[in-house]
Amino acid sequence: MKYNFDQIINRSNTSSIKHDLKEMIFGTPNILPLWVADMDFETPQFVRNAIMERALHPVYGYTFRDDAYYESIINWMQRRHRWHIEKDWILFSPGVVPGLNMAVMAFTDPGDAILVQPPVYFPFFSAVKDHDRVLLENELVCNGSSYEVDFDDFEEKAKQAKLFILCSPHNPLGRCWTREELQKMADICLKHNVLVLSDEIHNDLVLPPFKHQVFADLSPEVADITITMHAPSKTFNLAGLATSSVIISNEILRKKMKGVLSRVHIEMGNIFGIEATKAAFNAGDEWLDQLLVYLKNNIHMVAGLLHRELPALKVFVPEATYMIWMDFNFTQLSDEALHEMVFKKAGVGLNKGSDFGPGGSGMMRMNIASPLETVMLGARQLVQTFKSL
Ligand SMILES: Cc1ncc(COP(=O)(O)O)c(C=O)c1O
Repeated sequence: MKYNFDQIINRSNTSSIKHDLKEMIFGTPNILPLWVADMDFETPQFVRNAIMERALHPVYGYTFRDDAYYESIINWMQRRHRWHIEKDWILFSPGVVPGLNMAVMAFTDPGDAILVQPPVYFPFFSAVKDHDRVLLENELVCNGSSYEVDFDDFEEKAKQAKLFILCSPHNPLGRCWTREELQKMADICLKHNVLVLSDEIHNDLVLPPFKHQVFADLSPEVADITITMHAPSKTFNLAGLATSSVIISNEILRKKMKGVLSRVHIEMGNIFGIEATKAAFNAGDEWLDQLLVYLKNNIHMVAGLLHRELPALKVFVPEATYMIWMDFNFTQLSDEALHEMVFKKAGVGLNKGSDFGPGGSGMMRMNIASPLETVMLGARQLVQTFKSL
């Protein structure tokens, strides 16, 4: 491999949520942090060079996004996802979560119902509740080794919903939705006049042979009801630069979204995020391809060890993302007791499944985007603790 993903980087004292807040979150300093969704790998050199080059210029004044910024996104979407987008369709948001919240403000009113599919990334819930919208949940169904959509329930809920927030690929379940599944969801949304907010932040992290289908690219009719969220942050480990895109081809919807974005005056973004985005999307293909190979091996190794040494633990091998969803219900522990055991006894900082809503009780999410040595240490600590149960 040209790039070294094995290198262990000390991230302490870098204002890292994952590393510097671990004691506060888990209540113990002796914890291996495999939680927050960023990676312990270095951001690629070509991205750091672009940031450093800009940093060398001594003035960091007001900024805007030039044509090269938009072209880098347009070309990336074309190359990686065969999705044609236009410059005008791309709006800026300082992060996907702020974008989700602003989209809720733009496209719904207090009291409107919004549909989500738990267990799902928890800011989806707050994006609904914090704006006094009504939460509708189409719980995803475990079929043994994976999860699927209950389409009858989806349609029942869609009848009442104004907006559907889709997580594609799905965090924390690691599903890379098939074209057929997405088409079925789209047909129901079209039938019942439901807008779709498609959070595709993990779309570059689809593990071969799985392939990402852009929701808006299913058909022109689907594009017309879709607001797509994307960012270079998960893919290239740039979350601290708070730079992402809201992509909308429908002019009327785009105008509504633009209205909220300009009312809160967050359109400027930041200089380093702009340069990092250009560098990542222009030069990142080979790095990303190697990252995917590395992540896939980490998943294989961790899942393999857990399967051999702790067969009672159900491990959901992801099709996308660097998250592994695990079922600890064999322990028959309460969530509180389970968390105490994982954090205090095993010393592994995983995300609580219960935070992801219905279907999350007894589950944990492990972030495997760290050097293999680190994630295997975490897996071994889990084995040691839970083997005797
Ligand atoms: C589905 C999903 N959306 C959004 C985000 C975060 O987006 P941002 O950091 O750009 O707000 C995450 C991070 O884990 C995520 O999993």
